Amino acid sequence: MAGTRTFTMIKPDAVSAGNIGNILQMINAAGFRIVAMKLTKLSLEKAGEFYEVHKERPFYGELTEFMSSGTIVAAILEKDNAVEDFRNLIGATNPANAEPHTIRAKYAKSIGENAVHGSDSDENAAIEGAFHFAGVEMF
Ligand code: RTP
Ligand code: MG
Repeated sequence: MAGTRTFTMIKPDAVSAGNIGNILQMINAAGFRIVAMKLTKLSLEKAGEFYEVHKERPFYGELTEFMSSGTIVAAILEKDNAVEDFRNLIGATNPANAEPHTIRAKYAKSIGENAVHGSDSDENAAIEGAFHFAGVEMF
C-alpha cells in the first residue's frame, strides 16, 4: 500500500549547520519514502504566503525573515499515517519540550529556529506539497 503523504522542510538553521544528511537519515530510518525533494530558497514574499495562517501571530515577521534567510530542503514524504508519524518524529515546536529521540531535540536551536517543518493535516500536506512541487516532480 502506498500510504499517505506529508510535507517537510529542513529549515535554514539546520541546512547551514550541516545537518541535511543527519536529518534525512532519521527520516529514512523512520520508514518514510521520499516522493519529491529539492534544495531551494524562499523569498520573503513566498515565506509569507507559505505561513499565511500565522499572519496575525506576533512571531510572523521573525518567522518569515528566518525562513527566507537561507536555503532549505523541501520534500514530500510517504508512509502509513504520514502526518501524525512525522509530527512524532520531529517533536515539539520548542526543542526544550521535544522528546530526546526526535529531530528537534537533536538539531533545533530554539522555538523559532527549530530545524524542520512538518504538515499538521492531510489537507495541508497536499496544499504545501503543491506549493513547492509540480506533479511531474513527484515520484
Ligand atoms: P511547523 O509548522 O514549522 O512544522 O512548526 P509547528 O507546527 O511545530 O509550529 P507552528 O505553531 O505551526 O509554528 C510555525 C513556526 O513558527 C515558529 N514559531 N516561533 N517565537 C515563537 O514563539 C514561535 N512560535 C512558533 C517556529 O519556527 C514554528 O515552527
Ligand atoms: Mg505548523
